[in-house]
Amino acid sequence: MSATVPFDAARAVTITALRAMKAAGRPVVMVTAYDTPSARLVDSTGVDAVLVGDSLGMTVLGYDSTLPVTLDDMVRHTAAVVRGVKRALVIADMPFMSFQVSPEDAVRNAGRLMAEGGAAAVKVEGGTVVAPTVRRIVEAGIPVMGHAGLTPQSVHQLGGYRVQAKETASALALIEDCRALEEAGAFAIVLECIPAELAALVSRELAVPTIGIGAGAGCDGQVQVFHDLLGLGGDFVPRHSRRFADVGAMIRQAVAAYADQVRDRTFPSAEQMTHMAPGVADEVERARRGLLRAVGDDIERG
Ligand code: KIV
Repeated sequence: MSATVPFDAARAVTITALRAMKAAGRPVVMVTAYDTPSARLVDSTGVDAVLVGDSLGMTVLGYDSTLPVTLDDMVRHTAAVVRGVKRALVIADMPFMSFQVSPEDAVRNAGRLMAEGGAAAVKVEGGTVVAPTVRRIVEAGIPVMGHAGLTPQSVHQLGGYRVQAKETASALALIEDCRALEEAGAFAIVLECIPAELAALVSRELAVPTIGIGAGAGCDGQVQVFHDLLGLGGDFVPRHSRRFADVGAMIRQAVAAYADQVRDRTFPSAEQMTHMAPGVADEVERARRGLLRAVGDDIERG
């Protein structure tokens, strides 16, 4: 029944709406955005949720991991995204070290993403270990999305960006992680880079929606990174993604055309110019000549 469930394109998406979508079998569509123009574009397509991911570090800020992304970075980019979104649910990532130190610290930092950034919810990486923190944030009135499986903030502990929970023990541990997150009050859980069979099983077991990335089609929704979908991240396309357009190539072509036209003076042309009223340019030129003559006379006189 998935694609036939009616949805209200005009109504703002809430966390309750996401749960209703799971119940109705309608897949949740989530995509990342990091600034106002891209947020405006993705929101206008009717996606359900926009994630201001800490993938910001790699996609926009030029880092090679998410670890250097700060809370101030996330607050600023969340606010920019919120300014561009009218309908989708905006979720902001809690960056590295913004929730690991203490639950109090986590609540304060989540509060900044809501109050200053304008997010409707936050996302926290981790499973059983972060569940008590998730509970504290939820008790403070802040909706939390969990994130289990490959958690990029733990890249050094995981030994790289690799598929998680492939064996029985680690798969069972992942199920426990997800259950702990759900029990702690998470309203949805991102499942990143885990086997499709496991993601499908978790999705069946949980009442809250699972949002997959590299976790197969059995999840209740999917999330992708804007730059991967559009070919804005260079030549590399992650295995879990698909390039739906090559906007990078379009940008290169457009900027090269602009450069050519500046160099051969065909840009700007009449449409991009403004003109003075008839006679004003001559007047300016005459006044200028008079001024230069006066300066010349002064110099001659010493
Ligand atoms: O930071 C991010 O973009 C994410 C998604 C990949 C889920 O966490």
